[in-house]
Amino acid sequence: MAVEQGLVLIKPDGVVKQISGDVMNRLADTGLHLVGAKMVQVSQELAHAHYHHLKDKAFFKELIDYIMGKLHQRPVFALVYEGESACERLRKAIGATNPEEAEPTSIRGKYGRITSKGVFENVVHASENPKEAEREIKLWFAPQDLIHAMYPTEEKSVEQKVKVWRN
Ligand code: TYD
Repeated sequence: MAVEQGLVLIKPDGVVKQISGDVMNRLADTGLHLVGAKMVQVSQELAHAHYHHLKDKAFFKELIDYIMGKLHQRPVFALVYEGESACERLRKAIGATNPEEAEPTSIRGKYGRITSKGVFENVVHASENPKEAEREIKLWFAPQDLIHAMYPTEEKSVEQKVKVWRN
């Protein structure tokens, strides 16, 4: 079995419900290692890039508003896990996309709901497979935000204004 990475997002409904601790405890039971974590205020650009495969769906606008925190006024807690068969193990722990179909003991089964507008507020995301994981991890994290660079990197000179603490 190959070592893989998987992106997990605790979505704004998960953050507002304050279930990050329970989600992380359940994911610890998979035996996978946490190699990156950060709170993210999701931009429209990031939301569209993450859910690009759903852009033709009727629920796309609601989905974008949801992941951007417009419904819950909260950020997303983004995590990267690593280990053998990471994607399969993470997906099993979170449960099916539709919270009504998810195993009741899975994260989505326990905490998810379907809104009256029909959006699945399923509290977490996990990468479907290693290829998707690579695409998603590169969207959400810069190499220096992870404890090691799991994909090839290159040095690049960038002139950039960054915010620093004022003395
Ligand atoms: P998708 O990528 O198909 O599933 P998953 O999150 O399990 O990888 O869908 C992305 C999100 O879109 C999903 O987590 C919740 C939302 N969604 C709906 O609200 N309704 C739907 O019918 C589907 C398929 C997804």
